Amino acid sequence: MIPFGTTPDGRAAHLFTLRNAQGVSADITDYGATVVRLFAPDRQGRLADVTLGFDRLDDYVARSPYFGCVIGRVGNRIAHGRFSLHGKSYTLALNNTPGGIPCHLHGGLRAFDKAVWRAEPFTRAGEAGLRLHHRSPDGEEGYPGNVEVVVTYTLTTDNALRIDYEAITDQPTPINLTNHAYFNLAGEGAGDVLGHMLTIHARDYTPVNAGLIPLGHVAPLAGTPLDFSTPHPIGERINVPHEQLQLAGGYDHNYVITHAPGQPNALAPAATVVDPASGRIMKVLTTEPGMQFYTGNFLDGSFPAKLGHVYQHRHGFCLETQHFPDSPNQPAFPSVIVAPGETLRSTTVYRFDVC
Ligand code: BGC
Repeated sequence: MIPFGTTPDGRAAHLFTLRNAQGVSADITDYGATVVRLFAPDRQGRLADVTLGFDRLDDYVARSPYFGCVIGRVGNRIAHGRFSLHGKSYTLALNNTPGGIPCHLHGGLRAFDKAVWRAEPFTRAGEAGLRLHHRSPDGEEGYPGNVEVVVTYTLTTDNALRIDYEAITDQPTPINLTNHAYFNLAGEGAGDVLGHMLTIHARDYTPVNAGLIPLGHVAPLAGTPLDFSTPHPIGERINVPHEQLQLAGGYDHNYVITHAPGQPNALAPAATVVDPASGRIMKVLTTEPGMQFYTGNFLDGSFPAKLGHVYQHRHGFCLETQHFPDSPNQPAFPSVIVAPGETLRSTTVYRFDVC
């Protein structure tokens, strides 16, 4: 563990390195439970940092578009920043305005990504891990209930970064946790990701309106430029004139992950991404029902990042495993409400390989 700076309000942050015998390593800070660096080998064994981010805490505090952090309490958008639960309505911060339409995004103004978590490193049978704890008080960012969250990162012997999420509450409250890593399998700063080959194990998605809020139904992907059920380069159809791509300025959509019949909560393959040039492969598995595929449409090169690199439009992609956006207002979607006495449990694995 090494120091990673101090937040403007005086909280000390730290950086922890998890490493396995193959040379895969992850640097994680307790600020936002954020993956700062993730090194994976290419087909020649050369390591590159495959996640976008910053070298300094100050940049995470000042300008991060959610690079690598844990998102909560509720990942993704909540329409109009409002929801009601058991007859009571709740008002949340409006911190995002896609299409000029205000909504609540990623838990609000000072959400889980801006907390300093309590970190506990551990090792277990050749694996290295970091367990991060956070307590979110009743009323924080407008949400009800005291919530205790534990996020465990484990670097496994088979080159995966496994993320286990757990949460409990003392009042019914919505919780939808994810990690917001932006990946570039050629290495961060190596340009755009349009040539990466992507497969998403989904037949349906949740189409959105101009404010990027789901319309409320699932729609088939077949026949649309959003269909990645067979491998396609990310950039192959990104500029096709399709209403959903135009609304989002690229891909920024929630895919309904195909889970085996009768096993909706089992760990299932969600996506495979291949960078043909380096040979790096990343496989995503999740217990979650959905996954947001986002192509960094809002990255605009307006700030220097790691090693002075500048990230333009589509220089990274996110595969955010999650429940569906706006779930607190969408009765047809799987519920994100956690009740006292229940434990939310969720797992996502990002596994690296080469071809
Ligand atoms: C959303 C994007 C948003 C981004 C913020 C993603 O999860 O889908 O619409 O702009 O987060 O970094």
